This record gives sequence, structure tokens and C-alpha cells, in this order.
Amino acid sequence: MGSASGLPTLAVAGATGAVGAVLLDLLSTRRDVYGEIRLAASERSAGRTLQVRGERVPVSALTPEVFDGADVAMFAVPDAVAAHWAPIAAARGAAVVDGSRAFRTRPDVPLVVPEVNPERVRDRPRGVVAGPGCATLSMIVAIGALHRRYRLKELVIASYQAASGAGRSGIDTLYAQLEKVGGDRALGNRAGDIRGVVGELGPFPAPLAMNVVPWTGTHADGGWTSDETGLRDETRKILELPGLKVAATCVRVPVITGHSMAVHAVFEERTGRREAQDILARSPGVVLCDNPETREFPTPSDVAGTDPTWAGRVRCSPDDPNALDLFLCGDNLRKGAALNTVQTAELIAAALTP
Ligand SMILES: NC(=O)c1ccc[n+]([C@@H]2O[C@H](COP(=O)([O-])OP(=O)(O)OC[C@H]3O[C@@H](n4cnc5c(N)ncnc54)[C@H](OP(=O)(O)O)[C@@H]3O)[C@@H](O)[C@H]2O)c1
Repeated sequence: MGSASGLPTLAVAGATGAVGAVLLDLLSTRRDVYGEIRLAASERSAGRTLQVRGERVPVSALTPEVFDGADVAMFAVPDAVAAHWAPIAAARGAAVVDGSRAFRTRPDVPLVVPEVNPERVRDRPRGVVAGPGCATLSMIVAIGALHRRYRLKELVIASYQAASGAGRSGIDTLYAQLEKVGGDRALGNRAGDIRGVVGELGPFPAPLAMNVVPWTGTHADGGWTSDETGLRDETRKILELPGLKVAATCVRVPVITGHSMAVHAVFEERTGRREAQDILARSPGVVLCDNPETREFPTPSDVAGTDPTWAGRVRCSPDDPNALDLFLCGDNLRKGAALNTVQTAELIAAALTP
């Protein structure tokens, strides 16, 4: 065990990013899990200090030595950085939990969502455990609960994804664009007028302020995006349903934090609205917020900063007794990234702590 406290030593790679900031917040609320906590990011951030558990902790550049004596390493860095550094951390003895896309679909790397498949964390042939993408994490806990009762056959998904899903640059770009369009009532009625005033597009392929952008992630084969193929590949792997049919359209919306998913789920068995609501209400990690009479449903602005997946608008399909339609919302930086990493790492840390 790396720490004098007898508690595991933790290294956090990507501590300065959008996900990293939430990781540090979550770690500050869990003081008895780790002993020493080390923070790393790029060379640009070396020498900065960040607040963790009430103390200022220095940030170092990512080097192999960061992982010497570390029992657990959380990675919240770009894909290529994780692909390079996670094996180095694993070779130095750290159990790696990576939130990037680098390892998610590798057969020798478990893809873990603690509410759905916690047992998968035990078998780590490469020393790495991956977490799914924020789109998958925004729906998988709720859909996994319904699958256990009705046995899932098909998903048709439309996502409404927040700017922070594209990291710090996504957040900065949306705030800057909102400032430029703010209050201008002349905008929004002519093709291209918003593009003309927002300036930098940042990580987005079109203006995001006063707009929706049907593209998240990178280019994948056949006109799909990586988030869309990721939803299919990751859901199949986590639920162990290799033949699951999944069709997704991922859309970026001008929301800072909080992904939403409109899901049409087809099951092997006949569904019931009240029963499905009960299943969701009783599932750990899910909160049901669903009252059509009082127009209660989850929205990103109501759920940002919270841990669970929020479920509402639960309906039985009028044309298929085996299908449900529902609307799910969750904080993409918390359960959609940092919280899932923290929960997964805690499963590993618990096995290390005497
Ligand atoms: N944002 C989400 O909703 C979300 C959800 C699920 C998964 N993820 C995944 O989580 C990872 C981090 O995402 P993010 O949104 O936090 O991105 P971000 O805000 O851009 O942060 C990236 C982090 O990686 C560090 N980094 C970049 N290049 C590096 C290098 N060459 N060496 C060492 N560190 C480097 C950055 O350090 P500096 O500050 O020093 O540049 C920063 O700490 C990505 O793989 C992303 O796909 C994100």
C-alpha cells in the first residue's frame, strides 16, 4: 500500500480539465478512501495548485514517476494521452480507471458501470478498466434496470448533449458565443446571421448559441459519429447483448452541463407504464421525476450538479406493447464521467484496503 495511512495512494491524470475538476470535488467528499492524492496534467499546468480535501495540492506534468507507488490511477485526459500513459501507469503497478475512448471497446479491458456490472471490475488483464462515454452513461443505469425486467431488444435514441461534453474548450466556447448573441433581437431569423456574429466555433462544427448541432464526437464510418457508434458498442458490451440493435442521433445543444436522451426502447416482453415507473423509482442511481398532470419532468438545468440519472416522460408506445419511450437527464461531468470513475475506482480501492 503506497500511503503511510494504510489507505491506497491515488494519482489523477487530467486534474485540471472539466472532468478533473469534478473528480477533485468528489474526492473531497470521500476523505477516507485514499491516503496520498497526486495530481497531474500537461506541462502547461505544471506548478499550478488545486484544492482537494481542503488542501492545495501541486499539479505535476505527466511523467512515469507520477505512478510510482500509486495503487490507483484515474485518467481524465484526451484519448491519445490515455492510450499512451495508461499502460505506463499499469506497468508501474497502478490499477487504471480510464474515462476516455482509448480502451472502451477492447475485449481485454472491462467496461464498467458500478450500478450495472460491478463484477466486471475484478478481471483486468491489462491493468485498465474503462468507463463508457457520457452519452452511454446518461442512459445506461436506467435502461439497464428496465432490461433486467423486460429484456432489451432495440434502442432508438436522440441525444441533447451539453457543451461541457466537449471539455473546457466546449464550455468556454459556448459562454463566449452566448455573450456575443446575448439580447440581440435582430438575430435568429436569417440564414447564417448567427454564424456571422459568434466568432470562434471552438470544438463545435457549427455555432452552438441559439442553435442545435447534429454532431458530437469524431467522424466514424458510414456517416455516423463516434458518440453514436459508441452508444451502440458500449451498450452492447455493458449489457452483454452483442446483437442489440441501436440507432442513435447525437445532437449538441446550447446547454453548459447536463445531457438529455430521448429513448425508444423495445423489449422481448410486454411493458407497463406504472411498472416501468416503479422499476426506475426503485433503482439505485435513478430518480423518477414524471408527472404529466403537474408537468414534472427532468431538464438539464434542474439536474446539473446532481449525481443520479433522472427519468421522466415514461410512456408505453401506442403501437408496440413491448416498447417504452422515456426522457433521461444527467450531469455529464458527474455520472457521465467523474462519478462513474470514482465509483469504479472505489470498487478497486475497497479490495486493496485491509
Ligand atoms: N466532458 C465530459 O462530459 C466527458 C464525459 C465522459 C468522458 N470524458 C472524457 O474524459 C476525458 C477528459 O475530458 P474533459 O472534458 O475533462 O477534457 P478537458 O477539459 O479538455 O481536460 C483535458 C485534461 O487532460 C489534460 N491533458 C491534455 N493533454 C495532455 C497531455 N499531453 N499530457 C497530460 N495531460 C494532458 C489537460 O491538462 P491541461 O489543463 O494541462 O491542458 C486537462 O487536465 C476525455 O477523454 C473525454 O473524452 C469527458
